Amino acid sequence: MTHSTRTLTVALAQRSYPIHIGENALAQLAQLPCLANASSIVWVSNPTVLALYGDAVQGLLAAHQKPVVKVVLPDGEAYKTAAQLDEIYAAMLHNRCDRRAVIVALGGGVIGDVAGYAAATYMRGVPFVQVPTTLLSQVDSSVGGKTAVNHPLGKNMVGAFYQPQAVIADASVLRTLPAREVAAGLAEVMKYGCILDAAFFDWLEANITALNALDTAAIAHAVQQSCSIKAQVVAQDEFEDAAKGLRALLNFGHTFGHAFETVLGYGTWLHGEAVGYGMVCAAHLSCELGLLAPSDVQRITALVVAARLPAQWPAAVSADAAVDAMKIDKKTDGGTLKFIVLTRLGQSRVQAVDEAVVRRVIGRLQAG
Ligand code: NAD
Ligand code: GLY
Repeated sequence: MTHSTRTLTVALAQRSYPIHIGENALAQLAQLPCLANASSIVWVSNPTVLALYGDAVQGLLAAHQKPVVKVVLPDGEAYKTAAQLDEIYAAMLHNRCDRRAVIVALGGGVIGDVAGYAAATYMRGVPFVQVPTTLLSQVDSSVGGKTAVNHPLGKNMVGAFYQPQAVIADASVLRTLPAREVAAGLAEVMKYGCILDAAFFDWLEANITALNALDTAAIAHAVQQSCSIKAQVVAQDEFEDAAKGLRALLNFGHTFGHAFETVLGYGTWLHGEAVGYGMVCAAHLSCELGLLAPSDVQRITALVVAARLPAQWPAAVSADAAVDAMKIDKKTDGGTLKFIVLTRLGQSRVQAVDEAVVRRVIGRLQAG
């Protein structure tokens, strides 16, 4: 392991796994025990990522001297569908992959979520490895075992909790990310500060310019701190247990965000963009409920703007459409809308909110 690679652990007893983070973490692919034990390696990616990192990854996987099946899915949130799962199953069946086949997901959250769900379901479960290549997937989606595809009626509506064998988050691959994707990743980074770590929020405010510019040290700290918080949350509440109410906090901004994604059409706003503005909306809702100070709403909005994320209600989303989409949210319980609200920066909880209150806040946000 190079001096610049650090390993965190998601502590889940016999399902514990490492998160290798840092420059040149990709080299870990040549050494992973689960790949050494595989009957074949099923590598799932998309053309964008393959063009950039395909040769490097192919060389590292070749070290295991196993049959390699490459599955190339189209790029984009619009393709996070059951049809793409079928592509993976078909490639695996065609190549006679057995239950010791190991799936390697190389890409952003879309590839990780689809390949992870294929791993959860192929022959009732085969091992998989997450190799996240976007900031968003390195700080959030690759860790914690949520896998899913979208349904036209709702985001991430078909999926499973299924933990990977390892996560390999190589910092150097982030340098090829478009600025818009960097901003989308920063939204999920901010989320951790908002819900659980006020000092991290302060740090983000002080370092947002460096983060926007993908400064190596700033990004390394942001990825490590985010993964560390997520690993601790998942270790305590792997299955988002309503009674524990801990992992649910990671959905801050997502009830609004998923509604934007569903109503605008998957891919119109990037997931991180929808979450970024969703956090602004959830902060206003928290304030409306008398829980959060207006000055904290201001700080969250200012950080979202500084990260170059959308900060205005999308004109194409009516209040009725947004509320309808929210009613399909996984937190909705017997028709009652539930949100993650902030009681102050760094403190959060799950709360049922009357539809009338939600509509009042939406009306204000629409009016600007
Ligand atoms: P994405 O997977 O669509 O990737 C964004 C874009 O960046 C794509 O065009 C991709 O090809 C490209 N790309 C990937 N790596 C690159 C690189 N190194 N250089 C240049 N381009 C690169 O989007 P995302 O933001 O990574 O993930 C969003 C998805 O993650 C959503 O579907 C969301 O629901 C899901 N998600 C899941 C969880 C979870 O816990 N499972 C958490 C958060 C988000
Ligand atoms: N991204 C939210 C979670 O993993 O729980």
